[in-house]
Amino acid sequence: MARLKVKYVCSSCGYETLKWLGKCPECNEWNTFSEELVDNKKSTPILSTTLNVVKLDEILETDEKRIETNISEFDRVLGGGFMQGSVVLIGGDPGIGKSTLVMQAAASIRGTVLYVSGEESTTQLNLRAKRLKLNTSNFYVLAVTEMELIESAINKINPDVVMIDSIQTMQRAELDNAPGTVTQIRESANHIMQLAKSKNFVAVLVGHITKEGYIAGPKLLEHMVDAVLQFEGERNHNYRILRSLKNRFGGTNEIGIFEMHDDGLTEVKNPSEIFLSEHSTDTTGSVVTATIEGSRPVLLEVQALVTPSNYGNPQRVATGFDYKRLSILLAVLEKRVKLRLSSANVFLNIAGGLKIMEPAADLAVCCSIASSFKDKQPNEGFAAIGEVGLGGEIRGVSQIEKRIQEAEKLGFTSILIPKTNYKTVKGKYSINIIPVKNVFDALVEIMG
Ligand SMILES: Nc1ncnc2c1ncn2[C@@H]1O[C@H](COP(=O)(O)OP(=O)(O)O)[C@@H](O)[C@H]1O
Ligand SMILES: [Mg+2]
Repeated sequence: MARLKVKYVCSSCGYETLKWLGKCPECNEWNTFSEELVDNKKSTPILSTTLNVVKLDEILETDEKRIETNISEFDRVLGGGFMQGSVVLIGGDPGIGKSTLVMQAAASIRGTVLYVSGEESTTQLNLRAKRLKLNTSNFYVLAVTEMELIESAINKINPDVVMIDSIQTMQRAELDNAPGTVTQIRESANHIMQLAKSKNFVAVLVGHITKEGYIAGPKLLEHMVDAVLQFEGERNHNYRILRSLKNRFGGTNEIGIFEMHDDGLTEVKNPSEIFLSEHSTDTTGSVVTATIEGSRPVLLEVQALVTPSNYGNPQRVATGFDYKRLSILLAVLEKRVKLRLSSANVFLNIAGGLKIMEPAADLAVCCSIASSFKDKQPNEGFAAIGEVGLGGEIRGVSQIEKRIQEAEKLGFTSILIPKTNYKTVKGKYSINIIPVKNVFDALVEIMG
């Protein structure tokens, strides 16, 4: 009997080697190699019928057709709907709501949709569709895992959109590798991509995130597809955020916000109102800031709780905010404002479960920490925007107008902004704009 040939494949980037390695030379990850059978078949040969050589200027712009999901938060993240013939990967932790999201999209797309599930039976899919109260008239379901069967189904119903839930469960029967291995995932994705490009349908691949945070294990998938969206949220919050990490047909960093209920996801069209709905103005340690998420401003409440540490080792906990950034800001407050924080526990939280990614929230973080530390309430109706530098100086931020407008719209009466941003907005708004140069001045303005 011939010995089975094996190779080792990096589950992160797809690098292949004949010997097991501890560290991947390609992506530098540790412990990512797993044993796989050497493919007895190479990737599908490209069919000559798909060969389409054209002059660039002969391509009509009308060829760019978008298929809208008709869920506006979803469409915005896609850059105006799915581009025809594109392949989109949607990743997220198990249970976050990926299947719910794609199924709701499947029902609201105007066109024929094939929803393939490798995880649930058709009965379960039907129950889910009933629970979500979906209109399923143009929406076909298939519960299989073999790519060959999916291809026949595609040939039969000629769909506009094919959803594969999840790509990790799919397999090509001609390969001996087990489903879920890098080879199977890659070959299945390759197969569906070639079909999507040649038949001009949209392929939506659902992928689980591994413990390390990679979509679908192999990072390789992220390079292959046209767009990568990530569905995220805190398990104990109802909010879900759809974030675009890569998009060949739209902007990145765009987000869509949803709320998860028993009967599915609903869109959150006015995020600031929702995130501030429980904002209390009569406590210490709470300051509102305006961040930019993708193309729109969102007001968020930064909460801090500072307590004396009796046991030498002060605790620092940050939820929704970068831990290292918090350490830097604490050092700035200690050195430049002379707040004795080195012996205090500091807990920082962004209310509502959103993660703040940009430094424009620094000033609000500093103000909320100082407010809790001094046990002094910030002035009512104040918001704060600005990046804080190591010298305690406040640096300018982008898109200042949008942020100010949003704060004004939500009824804030005063807003602290970086001095360098002041020229462009002076006298333009009815909200009281207070330019500040450094953290010390900002604290005087907001707390007296
Ligand atoms: N039968 C059910 N009744 C009520 N809620 C459910 C039911 N099944 C799932 N859910 C809710 O939907 C959420 C998302 O499920 P799902 O879309 O299957 O996630 P994913 O596909 O990302 O694993 C679950 O975490 C749960 O809150
Ligand atoms: Mg699922």
